[in-house]
Amino acid sequence: MDGVANQHSGMGPDVDPEQARELAQLLGPLDESTLEGANARRMVIAVGGGKGGIGKSLIAANLGVYLSQRGAKVVLVDADLGGANLHTCLGVKPPRTTLSDFVNRRVNDLNEVVANTGIPNLGLISGALDQLSAANPKYTQKLRILREVSRLDVDAIIIDLGGGTGFNILDFFLIADHGILTVVPEPTSIENAYRFIKAAYYRRLKTAEMSWNLRPLVEAAMSDRGSQGLRTPADLVAYVEKRDPEGGARLRHELERFPLELIVNQARSPEEERLGEAIADACRKYFGIRMQFLGAVPFDDAVWQSVRHRRPVLIDAPQSLASQSIMRIADTLGVRISR
Ligand SMILES: Nc1ncnc2c1ncn2[C@@H]1O[C@H](COP(=O)(O)OP(=O)(O)OP(=O)(O)O)[C@@H](O)[C@H]1O
Ligand SMILES: [Mg+2]
Repeated sequence: MDGVANQHSGMGPDVDPEQARELAQLLGPLDESTLEGANARRMVIAVGGGKGGIGKSLIAANLGVYLSQRGAKVVLVDADLGGANLHTCLGVKPPRTTLSDFVNRRVNDLNEVVANTGIPNLGLISGALDQLSAANPKYTQKLRILREVSRLDVDAIIIDLGGGTGFNILDFFLIADHGILTVVPEPTSIENAYRFIKAAYYRRLKTAEMSWNLRPLVEAAMSDRGSQGLRTPADLVAYVEKRDPEGGARLRHELERFPLELIVNQARSPEEERLGEAIADACRKYFGIRMQFLGAVPFDDAVWQSVRHRRPVLIDAPQSLASQSIMRIADTLGVRISR
């Protein structure tokens, strides 16, 4: 459990118990009985990866294009709060109204921030923030964004998270029904993906422990971890479960339904495509959480050509291998079309 104590104590000085409870509620139903309601709501898909230049925007934009072509009403959210450029992937100008107008209460309804992309059924909320401080919005502001984003009246909300593992990025990732991690077959990208999973895991643990007063036990586990032989996060949950069966089971349940999914991008061989299974396996063993490998997107010249043409690859080269694989992945997400 390298670095666990650090991760744990650094889980966000900005969170108090009440906010943690509100965040936990936003993160989804706390028990199975409310799952039906949860399924009925719009689907939130977040695309992250903890590293720059690995295809997060490519995947987010083209998932959006495909689902909207299929008739779903979709809003893309550029949550790359410092370096928003999703509009470029879609070939449109930077939207005039952005999330910063919502954060600064120049507009009160998030729907007013949704810009046209020229693609039917596909809207865009740009994260371009005109004030540096707003790139790190306060916790209450962030909760307001998270709440309103998940209430947008559409079939799917696709969030492009940008790079890094900051709390804002993690919270956007954790409210999603599909938390998609993107990796490219390079050691640095895989390393960053593990860092991302670890940070998201402890962020989730933190909100769960604060909501259910499990903090003393989790802290005891941290300080006992040497003598108790706790090596992995899965060991930690077992420790809590042994001493508080009900609380521990809740914790296990919450962490098990972590919405973790994986796409391997820029795969150049079948071995690289299969890397996804190996990562998912390692994740299961170490964290005790299920990670679903959604599939691979091959390295494809059609992608960078489409970037030069300033058009999504799905429109520029729908027959390309990259487009076809993104379509296959989109079909597995189970987005419901309301009309
Ligand atoms: N499957 C692919 N085949 C070929 N080139 C690709 C592929 N995926 C991504 N690229 C190239 O990598 C570039 C970066 O992709 P993209 O902008 O989607 O990454 P990102 O993760 O969103 O980056 P950032 O963190 O900077 O926002 C693209 O402009 C494209 O040229
Ligand atoms: Mg990007």
